Amino acid sequence: MTQGPLCQQWSHCPLQHPLHPPSEGPVPCVPISDNWPGYSLDLFTYPQHYYGDLEYVLIPHGIIVDRTERLAKDIMQDIGDNDIVVLCVLKGGYKFCADLVEHIKNLSRNSERFISMKVDFVRLKSYHNDQSMQDMQIIGGDDLSKLTGKDIVGTGRTMKVLLNNIEKYKPKMIKVASLLVKRTSRPDGYRPDYYGFEIPDLFVVGYALDYNEHFRDLNHICVINDHGKAKYRV
Ligand code: HPA
Ligand code: MG
Repeated sequence: MTQGPLCQQWSHCPLQHPLHPPSEGPVPCVPISDNWPGYSLDLFTYPQHYYGDLEYVLIPHGIIVDRTERLAKDIMQDIGDNDIVVLCVLKGGYKFCADLVEHIKNLSRNSERFISMKVDFVRLKSYHNDQSMQDMQIIGGDDLSKLTGKDIVGTGRTMKVLLNNIEKYKPKMIKVASLLVKRTSRPDGYRPDYYGFEIPDLFVVGYALDYNEHFRDLNHICVINDHGKAKYRV
């Protein structure tokens, strides 16, 4: 069987933590190239209040869900008999997290071993309009010390800051799942253990990803246009 396409490699893991060693070898994922024109919005349905605000569909909702199902299968294979604590990073990670948990539950129900799962939530906020801000705040999470001795599958983009906070509780294993990884030239590039798509360095919205709290109710992952940016700028 041939392996699927492989995505860009990070030369090192910036975390340098024994509980979270960098994955060895190339990681199979779905790469979306810089010159991918996307799908015309006319081919899909999407909320009328966003007509005129979007450029194109980067990843249709169905493909997101199908890819997430495969990530769930890969995660199931790797965690063995361990129970897991899923730490969902709000708000942008809630759709991916919900779908991932649902797939893990279904796969687990249809297999010999039933994985026990707990879910917790934290919130990280770092974006204003489409620009990343330096300051990042972690809000919520019942009590991160509960993660000790558990496996964590986190979802979200700004995982590096979060992991630095979680690792002091010495969980047995930490795994990070993110739906999207952006191809950036920034030196702090962090590669999750599981990721769905490697995308160009574009600002995207939909599937819970927002632009100033708008577009979370869009199913597909889309690229916003200048009109949309201006309309919802704060
Ligand atoms: N869209 C929405 N939120 C984000 C993005 C993005 O492309 N990158 C980081 N946070
Ligand atoms: Mg946001």
